[in-house]
Amino acid sequence: MCGIVGYIGKREAYPIILNGLKRLEYRGYDSAGVAIYDGTDIQMAKTKGKVADLEAKVNRELNSKGTLGIGHTRWATHGVPNDVNSHPHYSNSGDLVIIHNGIIENYASIKKELIKRGYTFISDTDTEVLVNLIEEIKKQENVKLGKAVQLALNQVIGAYAIAVFDRKKPDEIVVAKLGSPLAIGIGDDEFFVASDATPFIEFTNNAIYLEDEEMAIIRLGREVRVRKIKSDSLVAPYIQELQLNIEQIEKGGYDHFMLKEIYEQPSVIKDTYRGRLLANEGIIKLGGLEDHIQKFVNANRIIIVACGTSWHAGLVAEYIFEDWARIPVEVEYASEFRYRNPIITEKDVVIAISQSGETADTLAAIKLAKQKGAFVYGVCNVVGSSISRETHSGTYTHAGPEIGVASTKAFTTQITVLTMIALKLAKVKGTISQANYMQHLRELELIPSHVEEALKSDEKIRAIADVFKDASNFLYLGRGYNFPVALEGALKLKEISYIHAEGYPAAEMKHGPIALIDEHMPVVVIAVNSNHYEKVVSNIEEIKARKGKIIAVVTEGDTTVKELADFIMEVPKTTETLSPLVTTIPLQLLSYYIAVMLNRNVDQPRNLAKSVTVE
Ligand code: F6R
Repeated sequence: MCGIVGYIGKREAYPIILNGLKRLEYRGYDSAGVAIYDGTDIQMAKTKGKVADLEAKVNRELNSKGTLGIGHTRWATHGVPNDVNSHPHYSNSGDLVIIHNGIIENYASIKKELIKRGYTFISDTDTEVLVNLIEEIKKQENVKLGKAVQLALNQVIGAYAIAVFDRKKPDEIVVAKLGSPLAIGIGDDEFFVASDATPFIEFTNNAIYLEDEEMAIIRLGREVRVRKIKSDSLVAPYIQELQLNIEQIEKGGYDHFMLKEIYEQPSVIKDTYRGRLLANEGIIKLGGLEDHIQKFVNANRIIIVACGTSWHAGLVAEYIFEDWARIPVEVEYASEFRYRNPIITEKDVVIAISQSGETADTLAAIKLAKQKGAFVYGVCNVVGSSISRETHSGTYTHAGPEIGVASTKAFTTQITVLTMIALKLAKVKGTISQANYMQHLRELELIPSHVEEALKSDEKIRAIADVFKDASNFLYLGRGYNFPVALEGALKLKEISYIHAEGYPAAEMKHGPIALIDEHMPVVVIAVNSNHYEKVVSNIEEIKARKGKIIAVVTEGDTTVKELADFIMEVPKTTETLSPLVTTIPLQLLSYYIAVMLNRNVDQPRNLAKSVTVE
């Protein structure tokens, strides 16, 4: 979950590293550090806190113009966030310097062994153990840095993306990957290393994404050498052309990435179906699906694995797949699925949903499903991510970089992809009428304009946020397709405002949560036109009878709920199946404004990280 960045070339390394760290800060932000080498001196600065704190410290303490540098932004696993535990870490001799994203599970036994051999440790981190193991091997085996890294990694258990350099080799950085992402940007006799491509996008469009159990020796004046860590065999690196551009990763005039990403939804939903959905011709074309459609058609069931917001998108998909394609669906938290000896057969199709494509639990669930013979399909946002590579096939969501830690556009684009898959399957299986199929294709094409319309309630939602910003709890209720939206609304609020919130199926309220309702409890109810409308209205009456404060998401023109609710947030009418794509918009804005009014760090809420690469 940390971010790593490195540079070796002809430019001054520090500005590149600092800028890279700012772009990677979404990955972890409890401490940060840099090491810059000018061929004579290594200068290091590190601090607890954000990259901005590091920048202030560097201005005081570091003045290197070195052209080799590495930097790190941390989400603590071993050792509390403080200056000493921040990366980079030196080896005992002071010659080797390392940054690490991941976790070394057997670090304690290695540390014990190294202490016996006279090593001392100043931090509590697993990373300091790793760099000293590399040093010890280098010394004992009398090998070069690359070989020592390889031998050391063969002794460790865990996950890592590392970058190491050696004072004696000012023209070289060694990197390696297992479980955590690592991209190498290839410039003109200069190289970049990072957890994703955003730190180097303005310098080069060419990148190598290391696969698990691969390492690379990056040396100036020659091509990057990639080899397998275990077998030692050389791998021909695949240089990928990146599609990212600099505007996509900047705030573009918005106060926060989250707000920008909420507002991008009309255009990114369009990007998600562009070229894949031809409504007038009645065609859905998903490259990854075409060759494997019979696997889905013949599947006994679909198992969806995901975490967090992606899991909520999976829940929406469960309703859609079962309704249209008549395939039984189970939706599993990846973290539970992988540890409970699940029954999976070759007749199952597993869909893994992940924005980052790096979530450790989802990745592990995929590996388990593959071992058991299931066909695994990925729905990912980040191109070239570990999950997109680990799955048999898949569809990218094309949401563009999502930088705000709270997921917004990833959710709606995931639902868009899953809707297209379900519609396509329903069509192939003949479980949907042609008229219904065509209606949904056309409705899907209207979603961007509906989202645009829903966003126009911004001012009104801001006013509602102002009324409720000091509440200590919120309840979110929805039914059917909008039950997962209630869960997602509650998750959004708690992660960025730190207000406790719970989502429930509306009808479950009377089985417990109703006890919480009094005049201090705001209840957000999704009450759009649907099969359950009357039932949801009854739930609203029940809340009202207990003096709960009702904030309702309603279809434009609704009068019944308008009379009952304290506040309403209107969304345009669409089909019930597609309604989550619009009902989720006011809930995103409500959370956003409450968090802003409470002065929270909206894009980097406490304790969270964007890509959860530890279990
Ligand atoms: C919530 C959020 C997290 C992620 C979860 C899965 O706003 O961002 O709950 O949805 O960590 O992440 P991905 O989708 O990257 O696998």
